This record gives sequence, C-alpha cells and structure tokens, in this order.
Amino acid sequence: MNQNIQIFKDLPELSLAAAKLFVDSAAQAITARGRFLTALSGGGTPKPLYELLARLPYRNQIDWSKVHVFWGDERCVSRDDPGNNYYQAKQSLFDHVSLPADNIHRIVSELEPEDAAKDYARVLENFAETPYEWPRFDLVLLGMGDDGHTASLFPGSQVDVTSPTIAVTANYQDRPAKRVSLTPLVFNTARRVVFLAVGKSKAETLANILNGEYHPELLPAQRIRPTDGDLIWLVDEAAADKL
Ligand code: 6PG
Repeated sequence: MNQNIQIFKDLPELSLAAAKLFVDSAAQAITARGRFLTALSGGGTPKPLYELLARLPYRNQIDWSKVHVFWGDERCVSRDDPGNNYYQAKQSLFDHVSLPADNIHRIVSELEPEDAAKDYARVLENFAETPYEWPRFDLVLLGMGDDGHTASLFPGSQVDVTSPTIAVTANYQDRPAKRVSLTPLVFNTARRVVFLAVGKSKAETLANILNGEYHPELLPAQRIRPTDGDLIWLVDEAAADKL
C-alpha cells in the first residue's frame, strides 16, 4: 500500500485537487482497461468536488460514456430525498454531464437495508474481477466522520466481515440511520482510495487514525488499507491541525 497525505488551505482548494485526481484516474483507467469504475461517497465534503466535475474544464476532460458510478454506502431513504447519496450526486453532477443512465449503479435505497445489501452484491458481481466477486474499483472516494467512521462502517461494528456488502443501522448527526455499505473486502482491493476530510472537528480523530495505534474496531477508517493500491488522504489545514 502506498499512503500519501496532502494538506490544503481549505475545502475549495482540496476540491480542485480532488477534481484533478478524478480526471487523471479516469484517463488512466480508460487507457488501461477501457472503462473507469468509481465508488462515490455521501456526506457534505465531496459536494464541491461533484459540482466542479459538472463544470468546465473538468466536464470535458472525462469520457463519461466509459465511466461507471457506484457508491461506497447509501442511506435507505427514497431516491429523491436530500439525504440520499445518489440524489446528492445526481443533483450536483449527473444532471450536468453526459453519463449514460445505464452506467449509474445505485444502491436501491427504497428497499430495506438487508435486501438492498443483497441486491447490491449482485450488481457488484456483474463487474467482478477474478478472483473477487466484486470489481476492483479504479477510484473509491471516502469521507471520515468525527467519530472515525467511514462509508457506513461505524465504531463498534464487526471488523472482519466476509461479505462485500452489509446492512447497517447507525445514528450519526441526525442523518438517515438505515444504511447499506460496502465492506473493507471491496475497498481494500481498489486500485486507489481517496479520503476527503475537512474541519477542526475531525482533527483529533484524524491524528489518531493516521498516527495512533491500530484500533480498527474503534476507528473504522483504519480498516481501509488497499492491498495493492494507493491510499491518498486529502485534508484541509484545520483537519490536519493535530498531525
Ligand atoms: C454517508 C457517508 C459517510 C460520510 C461521513 C463524512 O453517506 O454518510 O458516506 O461515511 O462520508 O459521515 O461526512 P461529511 O463529509 O459530511 O463530514
């Protein structure tokens, strides 16, 4: 695993770097394998990135016909609920670029989490790369909660999960509690994982994750360690304050 930490003044600067990374990752994957498989995250931090990708010059630097979009996690509310991760990406990105509808592989958030998790495992199988039952994502975007969660892998949840998707119930900042998440099995076979984290409320947790002891049960973001890929942290100065 190659780990790399980049610190930016603020979220706008971080988002510009993330947009360039997204464009470069897409170009590399399309040249090498003819398509770009990416898993998006929810939360507030990636929204400016999605808005940048929807605009020039980035919009025209990506061959959207070869992009396939998935999610690292989803909140089980309707697809037009502002708390839905698919809805956020649709509003800020998909509505503005020529991404074919067939290339959007959303988690069916209207289902109960157990059913949605099983359904998503089948979706992943369609893109599986041997020997796995899921794709090796070219780029996974992840966020980090103040409590150290990532995707919907929360503190206290089972560390050694053997399925690619799980159903989750979690209370965090009044956000929808019923969720579906990919698991470290999938994240850790990605070719590149990029965390986006900003704000001083994350500073202590970020320092514990990056510089503290390995406590994956308490700090789920530590469970993300791609075995044959890059791990990149894009953080702002406030979040990096205690590093
Ligand atoms: C979700 C997430 C979640 C998110 C973090 C950070 O759907 O809730 O994917 O893991 O990335 O909670 O959220 P912020 O970016 O809003 O801090």
